Amino acid sequence: MSDVENHSRYSLEKVDICDRAAIERVLAEARPRAVMHLAAESHVDRSIEKPDDFVQTNIVGTYAMLEAAMNYWLGLDGEAKTAFRFVHVSTDEVFGSLGDEGAFTETTPYQPRSPYSASKAASDHLVQAWHATYGLPTVLTNCSNNFGPYQFPEKLIPLITIKALRGESLPVYGKGANIRDWLYVEDHASALRLALEKGAIGECYNIGARSERTNLDVVRGICKLLDEFVPDGAPHERLITFVEDRPGHDYRYAMDPRKIESELAWRPRESFESGLRKTVQWYLQNRSWWQAILDKTYRGERLGRGKAPALGSTA
Ligand code: DAU
Repeated sequence: MSDVENHSRYSLEKVDICDRAAIERVLAEARPRAVMHLAAESHVDRSIEKPDDFVQTNIVGTYAMLEAAMNYWLGLDGEAKTAFRFVHVSTDEVFGSLGDEGAFTETTPYQPRSPYSASKAASDHLVQAWHATYGLPTVLTNCSNNFGPYQFPEKLIPLITIKALRGESLPVYGKGANIRDWLYVEDHASALRLALEKGAIGECYNIGARSERTNLDVVRGICKLLDEFVPDGAPHERLITFVEDRPGHDYRYAMDPRKIESELAWRPRESFESGLRKTVQWYLQNRSWWQAILDKTYRGERLGRGKAPALGSTA
């Protein structure tokens, strides 16, 4: 954020998305051309531990955002009203869990299986309802697993990287055979920009880079990069520890991105390997960023009714 915070068109307001009056005030003051709704509780394991925040932020918060955006949009006229968009950013997890074959398309029926994905599915339904019923000009995106710089250490790739750097055991749920479809964060950002600028009103777009990997392959990939960057700790794979599985663990996600590729000409620029290299390097070079989180907010402990050791324990 430091590279944009002095820009004349940048301002930051910290408000609760459930606080509709606060959102309405921000919209009235900023007078945006569009709203991109990315705010969400996003970690599956936390939703298993404490679903309340997910119901509140993801469902009630989206309702408040929709109502505030509706009122703002209704108050616009002319070109500003025609051009306004509400882009709702969601997840592939709303579609449920795949077997070994196939991929989610925009018409795959919703079948969420965790408190997190159920709350995101509910928010997607609210967005579609506000479009169909009130005509709010919405665009909905569903994306696969993101990775890259600044990702909170609760997620697999930063968690494993940080634990490996600290010589701690690397918790792999179950047998590590679950499959995720990985997308570098900047490629997600470019897709969102296109959805905002060129997406058709009322439409949904699936975003993914056809980069399926098993969790064990991801963890091994991180270990190999660290062997190269920090040879003293090699082989980092010795730290891999198989731990109790996540309850209700979705087996596989895979996105079919043909619609956004053909209609909006989106293409990811990063391969999984090039993105992972950049990401691991970023965590190596930005220790103070994640160390501050470990000191204050999240120590790397297992969330969601598991038994893996917290940061500080060794393999
Ligand atoms: O698919 C998109 C979703 O990807 C987003 O909507 C979510 O916000 C995001 O958190 C992510 O969900 P996952 O549950 O797939 O991500 P997570 O990083 O928690 O886990 C990735 C895989 O790695 C999953 O199969 C569980 C496994 N895992 C995770 C952790 C934290 C482990 O094996 N060990 C771990 O310590």
